[in-house]
Amino acid sequence: MTTNLFKNLCLLCIAMAQVVFCTAQKKTIDQKVDSVLKLMTLDEKIGQMNQYNGDFNATGPITQDGDKQNQIREGKLGSILNVTGVDHTRTLQQIALQSRLKIPLLFGQDVIHGYRTIFPLPLAEAASWDMEAIEQTARIAATEAAAAGIHWTFAPMVDIARDPRWGRVMEGAGEDTYLGSLIAAARVKGFQGKGLGNTDAVMACAKHFAAYGAAIGGRDYNSVDMSLRQLYEVYLPPFKAAAEAGAATFMNSFNDLNGIPATGNKYLQRDILKGQWKFKGFVVSDWGSVGEMVNHGYAKDKYEAAMLAANAGSDMDMESRSYIKNLATLVKEGKVKIAVIDEAVKRILKKKFEMGLFDDPFKFCNEAREKEQWDNKNNLAVAREMAKKSIVLLKNDNQLLPLSKQSNNIALIGPFVKAVRDNLGFWSYSWPDDTARIVTLFDGVKNKLAANANILYAKGCNINDSSKAGFDEAMAVARQSDVVVLSVGEASNMTGEAKSRSNLHLPGVQEDLIKAVMATGKPVIVLISAGRPLVFNWTADNVPAIVYTWWLGTEAGNAIADVLFGDHNPAGKLPISFPRTEGQIPVYYNHYNTGRPAKRDNDVNYVSAYTDLLNSPRYAFGYGLSFTKFTYGAFTVNKTALKANDKLEVSVTVTNSGNYDGEEVVQLYVRDRFGSVVRPVKELKGFKKIFLKKGESREVKFTLTTNDLKFYNDALVYDWEPGDFDIMAGPNSADVQKLSITWNK
Ligand code: BGC
Repeated sequence: MTTNLFKNLCLLCIAMAQVVFCTAQKKTIDQKVDSVLKLMTLDEKIGQMNQYNGDFNATGPITQDGDKQNQIREGKLGSILNVTGVDHTRTLQQIALQSRLKIPLLFGQDVIHGYRTIFPLPLAEAASWDMEAIEQTARIAATEAAAAGIHWTFAPMVDIARDPRWGRVMEGAGEDTYLGSLIAAARVKGFQGKGLGNTDAVMACAKHFAAYGAAIGGRDYNSVDMSLRQLYEVYLPPFKAAAEAGAATFMNSFNDLNGIPATGNKYLQRDILKGQWKFKGFVVSDWGSVGEMVNHGYAKDKYEAAMLAANAGSDMDMESRSYIKNLATLVKEGKVKIAVIDEAVKRILKKKFEMGLFDDPFKFCNEAREKEQWDNKNNLAVAREMAKKSIVLLKNDNQLLPLSKQSNNIALIGPFVKAVRDNLGFWSYSWPDDTARIVTLFDGVKNKLAANANILYAKGCNINDSSKAGFDEAMAVARQSDVVVLSVGEASNMTGEAKSRSNLHLPGVQEDLIKAVMATGKPVIVLISAGRPLVFNWTADNVPAIVYTWWLGTEAGNAIADVLFGDHNPAGKLPISFPRTEGQIPVYYNHYNTGRPAKRDNDVNYVSAYTDLLNSPRYAFGYGLSFTKFTYGAFTVNKTALKANDKLEVSVTVTNSGNYDGEEVVQLYVRDRFGSVVRPVKELKGFKKIFLKKGESREVKFTLTTNDLKFYNDALVYDWEPGDFDIMAGPNSADVQKLSITWNK
C-alpha cells in the first residue's frame, strides 16, 4: 500500500468516525429531549413556550405582571429577555433550578451591533461589503454578550429594506437580496462561532419573518401586501441564507402579510420555514405580536390568538402572555393538539441542550470572562477597523480630502463634533463610562494631530431645533480657519424601531448652517452621521467634499479622523439607494423596466417618470468613492453564445490610476432580457473587493453558471430560462459597462 493510499484511508476512517460520533451525539440530544419531555406536565411544557421581559431585581419585588420569580420557580417561564450581567443571570438561573424539573432559562437580548463595544450600525457595516469583517464584529459581539451571561441575541435582522422612511432600515443590510443574503450568513456565523455550546457563542435569531421591511409607506408595524414572487425572490432569500448558515432561532414579525399576521401565518412558519427549508430551531414571536393579532382583527381575543399562533408554528410567546394563559385550555378543548405543544417544546429544549445548559446552567456565568471582555482593547481596535470600512466617501472635488496632518487652523463645526452617544445609534446599551469611552469626532481629530495644532470649534446649532443663534460664532470660527470639517446628521433616537419619518431632510437648521459656513468661502468637508439615507440636495450640489459616516460606534471619532487625514483610504459602497427626495421612495436599482422606460435621466415624455424630478437616485446602490481613482479597462467574456452546462467567465481589468493605494469593490450585474415574467433591469450577481497599490492593475474574474440566472417563474418554480442576457460590470450599479450574450439549453 502506498503511503498516500494509507493516509487517505486513515483520513476516511477519521471522517467516518466523526460522522458516527456526531450522529450519536445528535441522537443523544434528541433522546435527552424526549426523556425530559416525558417528565413534563402540560403546564411545564407551556411554561417553556413563555418568555417575559426581565424587570427583575435580585431581592425579588413583585412586578406589575405578578411575581415572576415565583413563576420561574413553578416552571412557567422558558426564557427571559433584557437581563444581563453574570450576577443577574446567575440569580435567575438559580431560581429556575428550584423548579421541579430544574430546566434552565434562556437569556435573550438585542445584541444588534455590539454589546459592550459598539460597532457601526448594521446598515453601515453592510457598506463595507466585507464579509469577513462583518462576521468578525458579530463574533466579538457574541463573545462579549456571552461573557455577560447572555445566551441568545435577537439578531441578525435580515429584512430587505427599500424604504428609508422605515426607521429599522438601520438594522439590516439594505436593499439588495444577494448582498443581504451573504451578510445574513456572515452574521449568523459570527454570532454562533464554532457552534452552540461554546462559551463564546450565542444563538442567532433571524428576524423578522417575514417581509417586515416592506411595511406600506415605510411606517413601522404597518401591513405588507406583496406578490408571492416578490416574497420568494426579494424578501425570503436572506432568511433562507440565515437558516442554511445554521441560525438557531427565527423571530416572526409584527406585520400582516397579504392579510395574515406573520405571527399567525402558517404558510410562512410551517410550510416554508419548517417545511420547505427544514428549519430545526425554534420560532419566537416578536414582542407581544401574538396578542397583537387581536388588534389586527385576526383573532377575537388572546385565547384565539394563542391558538392561531401556536398552530401556525410560533413556538415561543414573547411578552404577550397569550400562551401561558390560554394554551392549557386550548389543548384540553382540542383546539391545539398536544403534538403541536410537544413539537414546540422539543425545539426549545433542544437548543438548551445544544447550548450545554442542562450540563451546566451557569456555563455563561463567569466573572473572570465577563471582566476580561469588559475592557478588551482588541475589540476596540476591531471596532475602529470596521468603522473605517463602513465610511462612504460621496464627493471629493479637487481632492480636498485627505487633509494633511500638518494642517493647523482646522475648524470643527456642527452638533456632532462633540456628540457622544449619538455616535452609537439605536440599539446600543448605555454604560456608566460611555462619556470616557466613546471617541467623539473632536477627540479623534485631537488624537491625530500634533499637540500644538490649533483646533477651532463651534457647535453652530443643535441637531433638531430651529435656533440659528450659534451661526455667527460658527462663521467666525470658519473665517479663522484654513479648512472646515462640518459634522451634521440625525440623533441616535431618530432612526430605529418605531422611528419612521416622512421627512428625511437633514433635521433642524443643519443645512442652513452648512450654507452659512460655505458662504465664508472656506473649503468645507461635510460629514453626515445617520442611520438611514438622508436628503441633502443643496449640500450634494454645493459642498466640495461629503463623507457619509453613519453611526459608527464606540470608535467613531478615531475612524473618521483616520479617513480625514488619509490613514485610511475609504472604500465603502452604499448598500441602499439614496433618494433625491422623499417623494421618490421607494427607489431601488433592481426595478423592472416597465413598458415605457425613460430614455434619459430627465425624460418625462409619456414615460415612467416624475415630471418634477430626475429619474435616478441621488446616489446609486453600490456607489462610493476613494481618494484614488480606479479605471475600468477591457471587459471580456469567454463566450457570447453559451449552452446549459457552460460557464461564463467574465473578466475586467481594473487599474489604480490615482495617487493612493486603495480598495475597490468591483461589481457584477446581470439582466435577463426576456422572461416568462419580467425581470429587473439589473441584479447584483457577484462582487470582489480588491486592494490595488497606486499604479497597479488587476484582472478581476467572475464565473457564472445557469444557477446564477434562476428566478421564480410564472408558476413560482425556481429555474432559469434560456435567452438573451446583459452582463454588466463596474464600480456601482449606475456606472457599468455592458456585454450581451445568449445562453441556450
Ligand atoms: C423588536 C424586535 C426585538 C424585540 C425584543 C421588538 O419590539 O421588533 O426586533 O428583538 O422587540 O427587544
